[in-house]
Amino acid sequence: MMDIQNKTVLLTGASRGIGFFIAKTLAQKGAIVIGVARSEDGLNQTKSEVEKVGGVFHSLPFDIKNINGLSELVEKAKAINGEIDILVNNAGIELYNEYQNYTADDVSDVLNINLHAPMELTRLILPTMLERGGHIVSVASLAGKKGVAYNTPYSASKGGLIMWTDGMRQELKDTKVNISVICPGYISDAGMFYDGHVDPPALLGSSKPQDVADAVVKAITQNKAEIIVNKGPIKPLLAIGQISPVFGDTVVRKFGVPELSKKRIKK
Ligand SMILES: NC(=O)c1ccc[n+]([C@@H]2O[C@H](COP(=O)([O-])OP(=O)(O)OC[C@H]3O[C@@H](n4cnc5c(N)ncnc54)[C@H](OP(=O)(O)O)[C@@H]3O)[C@@H](O)[C@H]2O)c1
Repeated sequence: MMDIQNKTVLLTGASRGIGFFIAKTLAQKGAIVIGVARSEDGLNQTKSEVEKVGGVFHSLPFDIKNINGLSELVEKAKAINGEIDILVNNAGIELYNEYQNYTADDVSDVLNINLHAPMELTRLILPTMLERGGHIVSVASLAGKKGVAYNTPYSASKGGLIMWTDGMRQELKDTKVNISVICPGYISDAGMFYDGHVDPPALLGSSKPQDVADAVVKAITQNKAEIIVNKGPIKPLLAIGQISPVFGDTVVRKFGVPELSKKRIKK
């Protein structure tokens, strides 16, 4: 359990979407937020909104796809405000396609940005964090709990993030570092799903980006292992999917999930 006040947060994906809400919420709780993304303009927009509510935000433009360059990112972040107390792995991309039509680069981009970068940032930050204490939060997805057709590299990356966190939590037990994963369903108002301009399946509904930001705060302050952010009660359905994956397929088909994903393939 950790107090957020005066803590240094390294937050990826801070230039727009859900990351903007996470930045603002953590800064309002007194954190010094170092926001990472490729878009300097987007980061500076977040900075000005955070400063309007009296928060502190530093822009750190960086492409996290460059896994071998991440040590440079960590050094740059440390040069801003010292050691990192909280790492929030929020940056992510999704690319819809029939699997055989992805390029090898498409698949590795999704895996690098969504999975390898969070793992590598953690690997780099962990030695100091183990001495000083800290918290790592990753934003995964319900797509990592049940595979999503036509978005399978994304599902693989998010499933990997959930299972990596699961193993790390056990490994970090009895240390000063805690680790959490957030699994949002469809998010309205901002972010990658909203930007796709399709309605969520009626039976699943959508949550707000602020709900994800609040879940990040709850994960840190109450040391939650995993938080699902979704309108309806999804846990029994996920449990059914574990017992019978094929029955789970029927349920998501009834909800219209594969149909919706197919619509999102860019022609
Ligand atoms: N929106 C949803 O419905 C939903 C549902 C479940 C889970 N999620 C997860 O929530 C997280 C945030 O998603 P979002 O909806 O806010 O998406 P978004 O609006 O597309 O924002 C993605 C963020 O990641 C950054 N990013 C992407 N590629 C990057 C790279 N190579 N290097 C550095 N930063 C990079 C983007 O900044 P730049 O483009 O400026 O680099 C942006 O700040 C993701 O992990 C996503 O998978 C979202």
